[in-house]
Amino acid sequence: MKKWFAVLGNPIHHSISPKMHEQWFRTHQLDASYVPILVEPSHLKESVDSLALLGCSGFNVTVPFKEAILPFLDVLDESALAAGAVNTVVRDQEKWIGYNTDGLGLLASIPQLTPETRVLIIGAGGAAKGILAALHQRNVQNITITNRSINKMDLLAKQYSTSVLDLTKVNENLSQFEVVIQTTSVGMDSTETPVELTNWNSEMTAVDIIYSPPETLFLQQAKAQGAATMNGLAMLIGQGALAFELWTGIKPDQQEIRETIFRQKGETHVNK
Ligand code: ATR
Repeated sequence: MKKWFAVLGNPIHHSISPKMHEQWFRTHQLDASYVPILVEPSHLKESVDSLALLGCSGFNVTVPFKEAILPFLDVLDESALAAGAVNTVVRDQEKWIGYNTDGLGLLASIPQLTPETRVLIIGAGGAAKGILAALHQRNVQNITITNRSINKMDLLAKQYSTSVLDLTKVNENLSQFEVVIQTTSVGMDSTETPVELTNWNSEMTAVDIIYSPPETLFLQQAKAQGAATMNGLAMLIGQGALAFELWTGIKPDQQEIRETIFRQKGETHVNK
């Protein structure tokens, strides 16, 4: 029987997930489809219940439901518990099982990442938390967090046993990091950056979780100083690939989809 999958969000029209999963279903000759569903925040529970009744095999969850979905799932995987958020749900034996593939999807797209890599995380919100959980899972030891508000930074640093660095001191200490991951929403639909950074060098990689615009001011500044840059599209494809694998057991090809999406959204690969 044909299987079907979905993505729940609000708004949802911008989502590239349907295109990505449909392409992978075709490539692997799977009889399945994937639909975007616009959900009213007050109807999240009813929507999830309806998906079960209608035989949905799994779904993605996007803004603003990644945390709100938790009470409506039956089981939470370790990845979801650690991040406190869910982006992928699998239907298994009449149960909804929640996972979080965002952080691991992002890390999978940073080829140079090893347990010894010196990583700086900018931001201490939900996205930072998911990435820290994934860094922990990948056994990355040398992590520093910086954030505008000290309290949130200290809380997260304590939880994940990381170092902290005052936001105003980041630029003068920048060269001690190999990978810098910008996790705030600053730079989305604007030309701002959470912190002015000018001390990049060609040994470093700047990662921004934002993919629209394809090159934030944060990435422009890094690129101007010779650092490698990567935007949020890699994370988007990485999290999708892990979701696809959870649903089908197949690791899909990320390169082909990257090229399809690049044509529409602009360049995003490591430019080194
Ligand atoms: P999300 O769940 O998407 O990560 P969030 O929990 O609201 O969103 O967190 C947003 C992050 O962006 C926080 O780290 C926030 O810093 P504060 O903890 O100081 O609020 C950061 N952020 C938002 N606006 C910012 C700005 N103008 N400059 C610097 N950091 C900012």
